[in-house]
Amino acid sequence: MSDRYAVVGDPIDHSRSPQIHTRFAAQTGERLTYEALRVPEGTLATAVDEFTAAGGRGLNVTVPLKEEAYRLAATHSARAARAGAVNTLRLDGDGAPFGDNTDGIGLVRDLVDNLGIELAGRSLLVLGAGGAVRGILAPLLEQRPARVVIANRTADKAAALAAAFADLGMVSGGGLDGPAGQHFDVVINGTAASLAGQALALPASLDVSGGFAYDLVYAREPTPFMRWAEARGASGTSDGLGMLVEQAAESFLVWRGVRPQTAPVIAALRAET
Ligand code: ATR
Repeated sequence: MSDRYAVVGDPIDHSRSPQIHTRFAAQTGERLTYEALRVPEGTLATAVDEFTAAGGRGLNVTVPLKEEAYRLAATHSARAARAGAVNTLRLDGDGAPFGDNTDGIGLVRDLVDNLGIELAGRSLLVLGAGGAVRGILAPLLEQRPARVVIANRTADKAAALAAAFADLGMVSGGGLDGPAGQHFDVVINGTAASLAGQALALPASLDVSGGFAYDLVYAREPTPFMRWAEARGASGTSDGLGMLVEQAAESFLVWRGVRPQTAPVIAALRAET
């Protein structure tokens, strides 16, 4: 029997993780199946027990379950502990799930390796201060940017997040108008605004000319944030499809000990959109 894997979240119908992992399995010759399971908030523990009993070996965890998965995991990787969130559970059948977080490394791999964006020594602006941003801050700071500014609609949340990561580098936080009049080389949108198709209320004097704008969400059309950056003279923009594939590859490695090639899978998914 093949080992079973799945992505859990709510909603889950539009997840592309099954396509990605099915392609990884075919490419590496690993015998596994991968499905999408809707798991409402508050019911993850039961779902994990049932899935493990049915031969489940690992789960990807998405909105709104990443903090719940963190609490459920018996042990954590250092990067999951730092993020306070888990997107990858390895179920070794011993009743003690291992929790990891591959989101941040997925973003850095897509930016640096796939898109060729230098982060070392650069000025980074990160928009948002929720779970998605918490998960990417440590891997971004590990790249040694000159500074990271976190700007959020609720300024206090950005300031608290910056304080929690201040031991890792130059990071500050405040409101969405905080970066007014400043230039940034890379701007990352980690707010939920794109999911709702909404534009962000960013200051007119925020300068992203010649810079790169990355939206963590993946979308068939450029998001309002990507269009905003293009109109303001950004030299390039990207949605988060590459990050999605890269975090999946890292999860696959955690589960199977094999790292799949990501470039052909990113290309195949782009062609399907
Ligand atoms: P996630 O886990 O996806 O990060 P979250 O923890 O609910 O979700 O965080 C959502 C983030 O998107 C927050 O930073 C939120 O701003 P607030 O902290 O002020 O709520 C931000 N956000 C959501 N909708 C937004 C909008 N329309 N404009 C600006 N920021 C928005």
